[in-house]
Amino acid sequence: MSASFAEPAVELPGGGRLPLLGFGTWQLSGDSAARAIGWALDAGYRHIDTATMYRNENHVGKAVRESGLPREDVFITTKLPPGHVGRERRTLEESLAALGTDHVDLWLVHWPPNRRAGVSTWEEFVAARSDGLARAIGVSNYSLEQIDTLIAATGAAPEVNQIKWSPLLYDADLLSGHRERGIVVEGYSPFRAGTLTHPVLIEIAARHGKDPSQVVVRWHIQHEVVVIPKSARQDRLVGNADVFDFELSADEMKAIDALAR
Ligand SMILES: NC(=O)c1ccc[n+]([C@@H]2O[C@H](COP(=O)([O-])OP(=O)(O)OC[C@H]3O[C@@H](n4cnc5c(N)ncnc54)[C@H](OP(=O)(O)O)[C@@H]3O)[C@@H](O)[C@H]2O)c1
Repeated sequence: MSASFAEPAVELPGGGRLPLLGFGTWQLSGDSAARAIGWALDAGYRHIDTATMYRNENHVGKAVRESGLPREDVFITTKLPPGHVGRERRTLEESLAALGTDHVDLWLVHWPPNRRAGVSTWEEFVAARSDGLARAIGVSNYSLEQIDTLIAATGAAPEVNQIKWSPLLYDADLLSGHRERGIVVEGYSPFRAGTLTHPVLIEIAARHGKDPSQVVVRWHIQHEVVVIPKSARQDRLVGNADVFDFELSADEMKAIDALAR
């Protein structure tokens, strides 16, 4: 095996490194999930994003085992469904059993429970980290206000917030708000909402002999925003990671930032 995208990575506030490029697995199920995740590991991805709600944690575990890679070489994220308030620990134990591992690298609250910050859930996350079941903990789909509620109540900031992010959603203030709090921003759905057909991205991609998808992934990485594109197709998942042989100029980064409406 040659390529590895364990780097570039960002340092997590509690220690450990989160690879900036990961593989998304939403909507991958059954044998095709294990196959696609296997292709991703083979291509060099070392960070896999799953969730209890995706019902594919067992396929993630199988693909990691069958890759022959040491467990510590693959960063695994899973997420707690918001409806599981009061049974957080049991749900995490079920995730670990499905994944076939004794810890996840990152455990996220998938959505704010009942649209609130969910302080009791967050206390369970802090305890799971102390007990070594999750190396790092964070949230997803949280506002900065909800994050501040968690920090005020527990003194523990989420290490990561996974939010919808793409050139069409770029928000410099939101990014700096996370950075001021020491929270890593992880983007999801980088290719949705028409990103790949935007004329500016098509033009910049042509300039570099790349596809718009590769420009979008590269733009995230140059902003140090974690990006987790999903594909069920081997050619696409390989192509989405082929972003380490070119660089977007400062002007190109600015032009892409400006696409957000
Ligand atoms: N925390 C949350 O609430 C949340 C929500 C949504 C997603 N996520 C995570 O983020 C990951 C990524 O988001 P996502 O799956 O919504 O969307 P995405 O990765 O932006 O896009 C996936 C879609 O784009 C297609 N695609 C992939 N590569 C392509 C390429 N090079 N050219 C053209 N089309 C391409 C895929 O089709 P094919 O598979 O047919 O290639 C699929 O339809 C998810 O898999 C999941 O892990 C988290």
